[in-house]
Amino acid sequence: MPVIAFANPKGGAGKTTSALLLASELASRGASVTIIDADPEKWISQWGALPGRPTNITIVSEVTEESIVDQIETAAAEAQFVVIDLEGTASLMVANAIGMSDLVIIPTQGSSMDAKGAAKTIRLIRNQARMARRDISHAVLLTRTSAAVASRAIRNVREQLDQAGIPVFGASIIERAAYRDILDYGGLLEDLDRDLVSNVDKAVENARAFVGEVVERLKAARATGEVE
Ligand SMILES: Nc1ncnc2c1ncn2[C@@H]1O[C@H](COP(=O)(O)OP(=O)(O)OP(=O)(O)O)[C@@H](O)[C@H]1O
Ligand SMILES: [Mg+2]
Repeated sequence: MPVIAFANPKGGAGKTTSALLLASELASRGASVTIIDADPEKWISQWGALPGRPTNITIVSEVTEESIVDQIETAAAEAQFVVIDLEGTASLMVANAIGMSDLVIIPTQGSSMDAKGAAKTIRLIRNQARMARRDISHAVLLTRTSAAVASRAIRNVREQLDQAGIPVFGASIIERAAYRDILDYGGLLEDLDRDLVSNVDKAVENARAFVGEVVERLKAARATGEVE
């Protein structure tokens, strides 16, 4: 049912990576997940063509500005979760997807360019929410953070977002080889070969913390009537 979109017009902010982590972890918990692959690079569709994709993940690959609303509606009627990986631009397709979403996740690296992209996305979400006369739950997800140090740049970004009243995920997506390798090897994160890929268990733990928060945010949105 719930529709979760990943948006930030800044290229390379981590939309595709975090969308796949969410879908992978939800599927490993047994949920049916449809991924709408609206990224022109089609990384997730390519991942889906590799061996090891679980049968409870469906991927919709041919997505256009005209078709996306219908495709989201159909997917939401069939799957327990719909995950949308959006393109790295601000387009009508992105606006349409946001208008259909129960939760918009804004992946952001600790750079001012990414932060500007995040701010643009938040303005878009607020406009879509006004047009739809409903709140659209959203939160920034810090990505590619260091496993070793909590950097001052990241702390500053968190503080600035807090001060601006913008929700931020407590968990951030740490820079991990496993998050790149899953796109090469296919299958779920937890199925990656521990002999070939380093720190798989830590990567899984990080993804679980993030997905736990996604589920909590969806519950909170449902409690306030944003999700039926
Ligand atoms: N947490 C991470 N750990 C390691 N590599 C990462 C991580 N997040 C992203 N990357 C790498 O950074 C690059 C950009 O990430 P990704 O493709 O997820 O961004 P995107 O926002 O979807 O980009 P686009 O706007 O082009 O669609 C990719 O090569 C990806 O493998
Ligand atoms: Mg992408």
